[in-house]
Amino acid sequence: MTSTARNLDGKAIALQIQEEIKSEVAQWSAATGKVPQLTAILVGDDPASQVYVRNKELACKRVGMGSQLIHLPSSTTTAELECLVHELNADQNTSGILVQLPLPKHIDAQRILDAIDWRKDVDAFHPYNVGLLSQGRPHFLPCTPFGVVQILYRSGIKTAGKRVCIIGRSDIVGKPLAAMLVQRNSPLGPDWANATVTLAHRQTPDLPKVTRQADILIAAIGQPEFVRAEMVRPGATVIDVGINRLGDRLVGDVDFAGVQQVASALTPVPGGVGPLTVTMLLSNTLIAARTASST
Ligand code: GUN
Repeated sequence: MTSTARNLDGKAIALQIQEEIKSEVAQWSAATGKVPQLTAILVGDDPASQVYVRNKELACKRVGMGSQLIHLPSSTTTAELECLVHELNADQNTSGILVQLPLPKHIDAQRILDAIDWRKDVDAFHPYNVGLLSQGRPHFLPCTPFGVVQILYRSGIKTAGKRVCIIGRSDIVGKPLAAMLVQRNSPLGPDWANATVTLAHRQTPDLPKVTRQADILIAAIGQPEFVRAEMVRPGATVIDVGINRLGDRLVGDVDFAGVQQVASALTPVPGGVGPLTVTMLLSNTLIAARTASST
C-alpha cells in the first residue's frame, strides 16, 4: 500500500504572512508618516538574479513598502560598490539594504556584506547578525531559514525534542538554520526550537543512514532530486529548499514523486520554501524600519 504525503503549501502560507505584514505596515506608516523601503543592489546581468530581484520589488509593493533597485554593470569594482553601500547606510529613506548574490567573481563579496550597517542588513549576513543569532538573541533572522521554520509552525509541525537533519552547510541556509533550531527558544516559541540537529554534508559517512534517523529532513544542497525515498524515514516531514533547473523543469533537491510515497508531509518545488524567503525579507524590512525610527 502506498500513501501520499501532505503537501505543505508554501505559497498559501506566504500569502497569509504577507497579509499580516501589510496591515502592520499600514499601521506603522499611519503612526509615523513613513514608508519602509528596501533598496536592492544588482550587479551584472545574471538572468536568475534579475528574476529574484524583480520578485522582491513586486512583493514590497504588495505589502505597501517602497522598493528601489540599483542596477550596476558587471564591471563595477569592490571599492565602488562599497562606497554605494556606505551611502545607503546613511540614507534616511532606505530601511533595508539587499545585495543580490552571487556577485561577479572579481568583487570581494565578504567585504561588501561586512560594509552593510547591521541595522539595515535584512538578509542577516553581516557577522554581527550571525553572531547574535549564534548567541540566541537575533535581531534579524535569515530569510530562508526563518521561512522554513514558518512553514513548520503554520503547519503545526513542532521541532522541540525532534531529530532534525539538515543536508547542506551553507552560510545562507544550513548553518543559520541549524543555529536557530538548536536554540532554547525562537520568535515563534520554544516548540519551534529545541531540536537535536545533525548538519550533514559532502563528507558525512553513510548519509542515508543519517538522514533516515530524522523526524524532519531538510535538503539545502542545490543538487536536483538528490534525496530519494530510501533516504527518508517513513512518516518524516521533508522540507525541500533547493531550486534547480533540470532541462526546462524547476526541481528541488528532493525526488518529489518518490519521497511523497514515504514522507508524511513534503514541500513542493516551486511553491514551497521559495515564496517564504521573499516574505521573510519583507518582515525583516519592517523590523529595520522600526529599528531606525526608534534610535
Ligand atoms: N541569492 C540567492 N539567495 C539569496 C539571498 O537569500 N539573498 C541575497 N542577497 N542573494 C541571494
